[in-house]
Amino acid sequence: MRMMTLRRSFLVSILTLTLQACGNDDDVAPPAPTATATAVPTATATAVPTATPAPLDFAAVAEDFDCILDWEPVRSFRITNKLGFVGEAVDLARNPERGRQFPVGTIIQLFPGEAMVKRGETFDPDNNNWEYFELDTSVDGTTIRVRGRDDVINRFGGQCFGCHAAARDFDFICETGRGCVDLGIPREVFPDLQNADPRCSGG
Ligand code: HEC
Repeated sequence: MRMMTLRRSFLVSILTLTLQACGNDDDVAPPAPTATATAVPTATATAVPTATPAPLDFAAVAEDFDCILDWEPVRSFRITNKLGFVGEAVDLARNPERGRQFPVGTIIQLFPGEAMVKRGETFDPDNNNWEYFELDTSVDGTTIRVRGRDDVINRFGGQCFGCHAAARDFDFICETGRGCVDLGIPREVFPDLQNADPRCSGG
């Protein structure tokens, strides 16, 4: 009798354990899909910092020097702006104002083979941040021969900066009556030299 009772209570406890185990299994079974769903963090959205914009500059490449006849003619020279400030540049060229400077990205040319390009405000402040260029031009495009300031010499042996510095008050634009040494080329031939730009014939 005693044996029977023991066996019964043993069986009951086995049964109970089994039932509890089953019940526990159901309770702890992990909700599988939520694990992957929560694995996608929102961290990427906040990880993009608000960077300080780089100061504006324009370092011209050969392709920026295209057919000057496509650029705005102002008196003797041609002018454009490669950063979208054409209107501002042309306005100042048409209405020169002592002390005002052309916007960054401005290119001014009198002849196809030489150019002045306006760089960013820390490029060369003593020279109002102009970069001077000697260019080789052909129907195939432009090659930059020399760029910079002191080493840029025109085809007549004159230093660009040396002459143009006299017109400092008008942002180094010489034209006439601003003290620049004369080029020694009759002004009447300027249009012919511009019309001969070989880069314009390619269409
Ligand atoms: C001997 C002095 C002298 C030298 C050297 C010289 N220039 Fe000039 N440049 C002038 C003068 C003067 C004018 C104005 C011409 C005119 O409109 O009659 C001029 C005009 C220009 C213009 C048209 C805008 C303006 O200033 O009137 C550009 C662009 C220019 N030169 C770029 C250059 C570059 C680039 C070099 C060097 C490769 C250079 N110049 C060398 C005297 C010089």
